[in-house]
Parts: sequence; C-alpha cells; structure tokens
Amino acid sequence: MSYYDQVAEAAAFLKTRLHGHEPRVGVVLGSGLGAAADAVVDPVIVPYGEIPHFPRSTVEGHPGRIVAGALGGAPVAIMQGRVHSYEGYSPLEVTFPLRVLGALGVRAVVLTNAAGGIQEGLSLGALVALSDHINMMGWNPLTGANEPRFAFAPGAGLRFFDMTEAYSKRLRALAREAAREEGFELKEGIYLATPGPSFETPAEIRAFRTLGATLVGMSTVPETLVARHMGMDVLGLSCVTNLAAGLSAAPLSHEEVFETGRKVEARLAGLLTRLAPRIDALIRAETKA
Ligand code: HPA
Repeated sequence: MSYYDQVAEAAAFLKTRLHGHEPRVGVVLGSGLGAAADAVVDPVIVPYGEIPHFPRSTVEGHPGRIVAGALGGAPVAIMQGRVHSYEGYSPLEVTFPLRVLGALGVRAVVLTNAAGGIQEGLSLGALVALSDHINMMGWNPLTGANEPRFAFAPGAGLRFFDMTEAYSKRLRALAREAAREEGFELKEGIYLATPGPSFETPAEIRAFRTLGATLVGMSTVPETLVARHMGMDVLGLSCVTNLAAGLSAAPLSHEEVFETGRKVEARLAGLLTRLAPRIDALIRAETKA
C-alpha cells in the first residue's frame, strides 16, 4: 500500500470515529504540554495505537492519542504526543500524523514544543511564537518522489515550494492578541531543530546563536515542512523549558524540561482555548470564499 493510501485509510478511520466533528484546526502538543487536551469539551479520544498505520510515541510525557472536540467552542483535533526521529522513526513516520490531519480537513495547525532558550532574556516558562526556523536535523521529510495529491489548498503539493512565511503572520497576530487578553506577552523567536536525542554542547549553542537561532529543540520543523507542503497555515509555539546548554550552571535533564512544561501547560491551555475559535473563524471565512 502506498504512503498516500495509508494516510487516506487512517483519515477514513478517524472520520468514522469522529462522527460529525469536522475540525479545521489541528494542534500538536509537545513534551509535558498536554493540558490543553483536558480543556476540550465532549472529547472523542482515539489512542494512536487504534489508528491504522499511525506511529506510537515512546517518550515519557507523550501519551499518544488524538483528542477531538470543542476547544473554546471551535471543533479541533488535538494530537497529544508526537513521535521523533530520535526514537527511530523515519521522516515519513514522523510526519504521518500531519498528513492525516490534512486529509481530515485540517487547514491550520498549531505546533507546540518544549525548547531550550538561547537568547538572553528568555525566561524559564516563557511562551514564544516562532517567526522562522533553521533546519539542522540533516534531513527533510519531503525527500523522495513528490506526492501532489497532498494538496489541500490552491497551489499546494508542489515539488519546490516557498518557505518565506513558514509561520503565518496572521496566526501570530491572533496569538499575540489572545496572549495579551490572557495577561501575558507572547514573544517571538527563531527555532533551530537538531536531531537529538542528546542535548547540545555549549559550543553548539554558541554556534547556533551566531546563526541567528533564539530557541533550540528536536521537533516541529518536519511537521511545519509537510504542513506547508499541503498548504496549511502554521503557528509554532515554544515553551522555554530550560536555558540552552552552557547558559546556566546546571546540567540539562529531561526531568527539568518536563517539570517546566507542567508549570506552563495551564497557561498554554488558556491561550489555545482563546485562540482556537479565532483561527477557526479565519479559516472557515477563507475556505468559504
Ligand atoms: N535542547 C534541545 N531540545 C530541547 C531543549 C534543549 O535545550 N529543551 C527542550 N527541548
């Protein structure tokens, strides 16, 4: 069975499980950031293991399930947990869930992650909207034959496509407004993705800062690439769970990343609850026109 057919089968399965829910907004929740899924009203919960061809996450803190329902009144599909290439998954497996969201009708996606803060002044627990990224993973999930059927917007599904506005300015503006109403300032930053699973060395962090990165992490970029390939709008949100290597005296640990995530997930949930209906309204107005 082709990759495209596997995606179509997974999406068809989910459509029957979600009976009637028609999410246009998708959310991917990263390490320790799962609380927004608890804010979903009348949730339909589908563990990844039940979905045909779907990869299952192996990292602690990523339960691995889709939670669909109403967030702030808007129908959403939330992926609680993702898989990473450092777990041994191939680029096509890592991005399979995004393809399924596209096939389900999702047209805008919020990708969240835990990240190390490189820039001075980024405090622990800060939420940052991505303005751009730097792919230092060493791979691109679009390597291989182009599949033009993964085109869910006019002009999408191309072999070569523009990444000038990888992260939507409009969605960032909505997010900034929602954060202000929630009582905090949403900063902006440039996310550099490494393959992991080791954290960086201090020399790598100095190099990444020179390159212009303000945040570092091990996810999101492959998902952004396939989302843009399909013509989706992307909002990237990082939670600064730790200062990047060499910027604080303490060694980095997954526990620290996870614990800081737990402290911020309620704020992230508040932001997403306020934001989801606005993104939904924007997307629906556009796809009707
Ligand atoms: N480096 C890479 N990935 C991360 C970090 C980090 O410091 N914190 C959370 N994810």
